Amino acid sequence: MPNSLNAAPVAKVRHFLQMSDFSAEEYAYLFERTKIIKDRFKRYELYHPLRDRTLAMVFEKNSTRTRVSFEAGMNQLGGSAIFLTSETSQMSRGEPIEDLARVISGMVDVVMIRTFKQANVEKFAEYSRVPVINGLTDEQHPCQVLADVFTFIEQRGDIRGKIVTWVGDANNMLYSWMQAATVLGFTMHVSTPAGYEIDKAALDAAKGYLKVFANPLDAARGAHLVTTDVWTSMGFEAETEARKKAFADWCVDEEMMAVADTSAIFMHCLPAHRGEEVTAGVIDGAQSVVWEEAWNRMHAQKALLEYLVVGEVKS
Ligand code: CP
Ligand code: NVA
Repeated sequence: MPNSLNAAPVAKVRHFLQMSDFSAEEYAYLFERTKIIKDRFKRYELYHPLRDRTLAMVFEKNSTRTRVSFEAGMNQLGGSAIFLTSETSQMSRGEPIEDLARVISGMVDVVMIRTFKQANVEKFAEYSRVPVINGLTDEQHPCQVLADVFTFIEQRGDIRGKIVTWVGDANNMLYSWMQAATVLGFTMHVSTPAGYEIDKAALDAAKGYLKVFANPLDAARGAHLVTTDVWTSMGFEAETEARKKAFADWCVDEEMMAVADTSAIFMHCLPAHRGEEVTAGVIDGAQSVVWEEAWNRMHAQKALLEYLVVGEVKS
């Protein structure tokens, strides 16, 4: 990175910008820590490894779960969190990312960013003195998939060799799932409507871990996990009406769950639109684990914060 008199080069720090940033061994460690940290929370046991540490949370898009899980999680670890939005900071007045990264990372211990382009979190990380966590971009949502894989393991055991079916948009969630498949060794069955196919580079990167189906019902056959997401992600609102038409047959319904494996569970990162990407019967039904999935955001991210800020711990 560029150097100058008042901005010394930044020492190598670990960031979590996408699922491919960590190895299978690191995920195994993080899932083990998530379980320990979650059990402590359930027992109301104090655990403060991040006392006096601060997380800055930068939001350029809306959030419910990501904000609450990071802020509550940081408090529970003994630290504190600062909430920033583009509208109420100097970001909306054009302050460059490089300057923002230098300033914020000189005052806090870890940063979480939710923004539009993946290149923006990458640029922030390049100029940051402290670890940076991707809290969602147009291209990736690794914190959600971290929690989702933990939830699968918690519910059904090892994910290696299993089939995860994605029905719907080729969006940030799918791309993070595809990266997870290559790192953790499971297979993705994906069905997206015509005109909303997986990006060529991501398709190539997931080769050997991915099967694409024209018919969503075929994608669901034999699945151990069926998952979907909104038809229109944040930032794509202008396409809402066109997407409603194109995605009409890509609704996860009872018929799809019936052809999945008998042990299959259903996940959705939320917020959900009942009657669009999923029926009320499925999301509110016996196979759905969406609430545990949402709560696990906090437990998984606490393990992530601990790992990035203090490193591996034994207790
Ligand atoms: N799933 C998720 O990231 O939710 P929020 O947009 O509410 O943070
Ligand atoms: N794909 C969705 C996820 C929301 C948590 C979006 O980007 O809006």
